[in-house]
Amino acid sequence: MSGDLLERQLASLLDTRDWLTNAAQTVAFIRQQFADLNWVGFYLQRSERTLVLGPFQGLPACNPIPFDRGVCGRAARTRVTQRVDDVHAFPGHIACDVASRSELVVPIVVGDWLWGVLDIDSPRRQRFDAADQAAIENLCRRFVAASDLA
Ligand code: SME
Repeated sequence: MSGDLLERQLASLLDTRDWLTNAAQTVAFIRQQFADLNWVGFYLQRSERTLVLGPFQGLPACNPIPFDRGVCGRAARTRVTQRVDDVHAFPGHIACDVASRSELVVPIVVGDWLWGVLDIDSPRRQRFDAADQAAIENLCRRFVAASDLA
């Protein structure tokens, strides 16, 4: 499916300004639309430099994650999307689900505040390419535009 169609489909699902509802819908939509994923979820910065678990689909996950730990921490710290082809080769990777082999973490920045990150795991090595990254980043932008992020 084209990235544009995906974005329009997600936008039509996000019919409230409530970020919690929209976050749950976004996670479920990504899990449904992208093959070979074992975990999709948000981590939120609700206190300084710490990520706490938000809406997700997958196994129960690690919580909390300080900014100096893991792929999620690096995305939060650097505010740059992290695309990891093989998590076993990423020093400090936090293994919540031992099945995970590759990972994509997109920082979500609102104004100058790091609101949180969207974390996506796959059991397949090198699951995510540049086109997947761009598509997921665009879906994150739709989520931000549709939601009042407290
Ligand atoms: N692997 C992540 C931790 C979160 S789980 O994948 C759900 C990390 O290294 O930050």
